[in-house]
Amino acid sequence: MKYIIGNWKMNKTAGEIVEFTRGLKKYKFPKNSNVIFGLAVPYVYLLGMSKLQGHFLIGAQNVSSHENGAYTGEISAEMLADVGLDFCIVGHSERRHLFNESNADVNNKLKRLQEYDMLPILCIGETLEEFEANKTKSVLSEQIKSALDGLDLKKEMIIAYEPVWAIGTGKSASAEIIKDTTAFIKDELNALKVDYPILYGGSVNPANASEILHIENVDGALIGGASLDSDKFVQIGSCLY
Ligand code: PGA
Repeated sequence: MKYIIGNWKMNKTAGEIVEFTRGLKKYKFPKNSNVIFGLAVPYVYLLGMSKLQGHFLIGAQNVSSHENGAYTGEISAEMLADVGLDFCIVGHSERRHLFNESNADVNNKLKRLQEYDMLPILCIGETLEEFEANKTKSVLSEQIKSALDGLDLKKEMIIAYEPVWAIGTGKSASAEIIKDTTAFIKDELNALKVDYPILYGGSVNPANASEILHIENVDGALIGGASLDSDKFVQIGSCLY
């Protein structure tokens, strides 16, 4: 199974979502294909995505680390499950770096999602500074261990490897780096006796998708910029069928 997951981040208006959905209509999605498409949509539009749900997985980009109560502006895992979402992204690098989310916050968010059996897409990745200092593996190992601490590892999860230096830069990591790093992640997961799908994210586009998606241990892609355009988004997945 391969996952093609778009992350719209803080983009799109209702009108632009209608355009996007219209843009999908010209494509035939193969039945029984082993490719699953999904979209992580801003909260306010989630309920309006129900028409696409069933064909696409629909998910949120973030969840509160708290259960519920006096946390103005937060959205709980219970709420996400209540409106029937399929998944939720946790620990995206923008959350970690722009909103100071710690590994402990990420762990708490995963616990909240597990309480409602919601599929998490856990993002991990090193900064440019860490990459240049050869710290990628130790950073990823720490991110994985702290995120999974105390969780029920038998429940489903997807891991997205997103080098921070490749996100939104137009420069994806090389196939060699992706191959080496995802193999390392796979080993780390195997040591914990789990075998979660591993996605790559960071400047995936229709031109580089085929090479990236055919790398051993890459089970799909998490796509930011290119997922805003229905043609580019579908083209990325169509190299698999
Ligand atoms: P990008 O974003 O595809 O625009 O690099 C990826 C992501 O942030 O998930």
